Amino acid sequence: MNGRAQESGLPLSTQQIRERIGDLGRWFHNMKLGGVDTAPDHFLGDYPRFKWERFAHAIPQDLTGRTVLDIGCNAGFYSIEMKRRGADRVVGIDTNEGYLAQARFAAEISGVDIELRQLSVFEVGRLEERFDVVLFMGVLYHLRHPLLALDLIHEHVARDLLVFQSMLRGQAAGPAPADDYPFSETAIFEDPKFPRMHFIENSYAGDPTNWWIPNEACAMAMLRSAGFSIEDQPEPEVFICRAQEVVLESQAAYPARRRYDRD
Ligand SMILES: C[S@@+](CC[C@H](N)C(=O)[O-])C[C@H]1O[C@@H](n2cnc3c(N)ncnc32)[C@H](O)[C@@H]1O
Repeated sequence: MNGRAQESGLPLSTQQIRERIGDLGRWFHNMKLGGVDTAPDHFLGDYPRFKWERFAHAIPQDLTGRTVLDIGCNAGFYSIEMKRRGADRVVGIDTNEGYLAQARFAAEISGVDIELRQLSVFEVGRLEERFDVVLFMGVLYHLRHPLLALDLIHEHVARDLLVFQSMLRGQAAGPAPADDYPFSETAIFEDPKFPRMHFIENSYAGDPTNWWIPNEACAMAMLRSAGFSIEDQPEPEVFICRAQEVVLESQAAYPARRRYDRD
């Protein structure tokens, strides 16, 4: 029984945990809380645990002294794992208050301390802080402006490591793109290995928040273009990157560096 003391001072019973999980709505993260699965019927299986097991080795085992920002933290599966690796501080942000409530409960039952804030990736400048490790997992394709999100992460919050994951569709990447192409070059656009982003006008997989789905080459090109070097790809959808100190003239205009709500 892992339940931390509730107000009465007694830990929650398994039945109480089951009821709280039910009260917190539909879970995307399957986690075992006090022995109870939060999403036992997940369409992807035991998600995200099976994904995590494929790339956990690629992230430092010991995060002592480091700070972590988990963007689109959902119910906090990865935030909790980062805290278990000894991170000094873990901040989880998500736009969805329902998921944040799940994360609050999951952290409580797991006995870990995570700072949770309702904030969009497009507002990361408001954090006014850089983090040693930034997780940006499973969010890019939910955004209408995905490259802007990567630019903002680089500009405002990434100090060193970026752990990035995206749904990918289309062929695996081919050779690196050339520095330039003549105007007469059109064949590359027929090449399914050339960086491509698929725009979903309506819905994909029953989810109208899936907007842009890159192929592998496109995800890699976007990361590089936003100022991240790709150090490792421990599984097909996961990229371990490092923020580079670059000044890119081509970056988009985006919200001011500081809070919008002060002088
Ligand atoms: C597919 S889930 C991924 C959750 C988790 N990062 C993972 O990899 O398992 C996408 C999450 O991104 C959140 N999200 C969507 N748009 C967002 C935005 N603009 N800023 C921050 N989070 C966002 C959703 O609420 C959801 O929790």
